Amino acid sequence: MTGNSIMSIRNLSVGYNSEGGFTRIINNLNLEVNAGRILGIAGESGSGKSTLAQAIYRSLKYPGEIESGEVIFDGRDLLKMELPDLRKLRAVHLSFVPQAAMNALNPVKKILYQFFDVLIAHGKDPEENMERIQEAVRMVRLDESILYSFPHELSGGMKQRTVIAMSLLLSPKLVILDEPTTGLDVLVEHDILKDIREIQRKTKISMIFITHDLSILYEMSDDIGMLYAGELVEKGKYNEFLENPMHPYTYLLTRSIPRIGIRRENIIKLKGTPTNFDPDNHGCQFISRCPFSESYCSESHPELIESDEEDHYYRCVNFPAWKRKAGITK
Ligand SMILES: Nc1ncnc2c1ncn2[C@@H]1O[C@H](COP(=O)(O)OP(=O)(O)OP(=O)(O)O)[C@@H](O)[C@H]1O
Ligand code: SF4
Ligand SMILES: [Mg+2]
Repeated sequence: MTGNSIMSIRNLSVGYNSEGGFTRIINNLNLEVNAGRILGIAGESGSGKSTLAQAIYRSLKYPGEIESGEVIFDGRDLLKMELPDLRKLRAVHLSFVPQAAMNALNPVKKILYQFFDVLIAHGKDPEENMERIQEAVRMVRLDESILYSFPHELSGGMKQRTVIAMSLLLSPKLVILDEPTTGLDVLVEHDILKDIREIQRKTKISMIFITHDLSILYEMSDDIGMLYAGELVEKGKYNEFLENPMHPYTYLLTRSIPRIGIRRENIIKLKGTPTNFDPDNHGCQFISRCPFSESYCSESHPELIESDEEDHYYRCVNFPAWKRKAGITK
């Protein structure tokens, strides 16, 4: 994708072990994260977004397993680094706000001491870094008094702002945010998203922003990677996604967002349920839900194809023919 890459994810495959064997959830994924931009990763629930985030940050725990691949960051492969080196690198360069992170705040510890824990975990002296803490708290527009509160004294939005402040504490180069506002009131969510966007514009921190909500995706992202059944089915710049989707899945999901200018009867609902990656399906993984499929879609597994548009890739053997079938003239 455009610009300088800060992270390269190469041929990454990840899955989970169970009594029945190993199930691959992420299949051979390749993606660049551009410096100073927000990469939005989207897909329906179960498409593998959190599995991907945990694999990249190397926080995936058993039964999760990284089968193969590389995650190159700061010139090194995170997947091959020794743990002490990985910890040092995370301390200053890379941070992660996992899904539902606010629920992981320690209920019996005042917020200030939880900031101290982050510093101590990264080998920093808490007392010497009070200013950093205050700055991080101000950055997310919280009053410093929250530092002396217990989590139960804060609203959901304040707790979420707190975990975001923790992720910004050591001025990382890249922050991974996994559904950072899910479960919050819509207005609170909107405010927090606006603030994340502003912080990103001001600081130029690179971000990976994960969401299942397409309207949030388009609001937040500069670049987008769309996941379906553990594979990227489309990647490119956000405006290309909106104006010229090249994969039916992106098109159908985008048309499912109620928006001004689109009549209710023209909103398309995506039928069927998402599936995990199916190694026995040698054709297109989306075929059972695709209203534009042709017989040849089941013959081979579509590769990611580079389009004529800069940095825009899609995984569909029936493009642009499917667009005609969908009645799209452009
Ligand atoms: N601990 C686990 N053990 C076994 N399988 C798991 C585990 N966690 C996730 N999975 C499998 O991986 C798939 C992807 O899960 P993941 O949490 O990565 O999806 P997601 O896209 O983040 O979904 P959501 O939008 O609901 O957060 C799930 O459908 C499930 O089959
Ligand atoms: S390859 Fe065929 S089934 Fe798959 S998304 Fe394209 S049109 Fe649909
Ligand atoms: Mg998730």
